Amino acid sequence: MPLYKIIQHNANTQILIWEITESYDQLFSEVVLNMKNRIRLSGMKSEMHQRGFLSVRKLLQEAGFNDLDLYYDENGKPHLKDENHISITHSHNFSAIIISNETVGIDIELQREKIIRIADKFVDKEFKYLNKKESKSYIKKLTVIWGAKEAIFKIRNEKGISFKDNIIVKPFDLENQETIADLHFEGLSQKYIVKYEEFAGFSLVYAFEEKSELRE
Ligand SMILES: CC(C)(COP(=O)(O)OP(=O)(O)OC[C@H]1O[C@@H](n2cnc3c(N)ncnc32)[C@H](O)[C@@H]1OP(=O)(O)O)[C@@H](O)C(=O)NCCC(=O)NCCS
Repeated sequence: MPLYKIIQHNANTQILIWEITESYDQLFSEVVLNMKNRIRLSGMKSEMHQRGFLSVRKLLQEAGFNDLDLYYDENGKPHLKDENHISITHSHNFSAIIISNETVGIDIELQREKIIRIADKFVDKEFKYLNKKESKSYIKKLTVIWGAKEAIFKIRNEKGISFKDNIIVKPFDLENQETIADLHFEGLSQKYIVKYEEFAGFSLVYAFEEKSELRE
């Protein structure tokens, strides 16, 4: 039973999470793959990466799609051939997809102490509201901020965005499971609604792009 969870965010947005417990062979035998992705799969160096990739196809099938409904653009961003938006993430033994009629991005990250050491690479203004002394919630908040920036990056799919300088996550409480983030990039300002929750020591973060974009 490795479909771990389905989050029905609203009528048009679903998040599906897979816990990867199956072998490569089992997963491979249960999914459809287009030719490009067969080649890509065989070139992956780690078996965990391969199982993550295959588990995403299991999630697609759970959502009523398959690999033939999916294509990647030149930057590696996945798209569905119908009007829906999709975003994909994998981390260790979990993978997740979000499918929505809105513009969305998703990320899952293992909550790890190591994130403290790299915080100044992706955090700037957020340090004003972060409390380093509360180490457990500090790690969780850093993981949400990282996930939010990854999710927004996946939506924008543009080279040159700096997590530290161009994306700002507004103050938030872990319990609220929602915050706002702004992207300021190349003279434009864009707002995102960011949702987050925890499971099994991971943070799940997904972001929705607000419709209007402002020129600065
Ligand atoms: C592309 C990127 C977003 C992937 O994120 P990740 O945490 O390494 O890996 P995840 O498992 O969460 O996501 C991987 C999935 O993202 C998707 N993806 C890859 N490139 C993408 C892009 N340009 N746009 C949107 N989605 C993309 C793919 O679906 C991929 O999985 P798949 O190829 O198996 O289908 C990330 O590697 C990246 O380039 N980040 C931005 C660079 C950066 O500035 N980083 C450091 C700042 S300090």
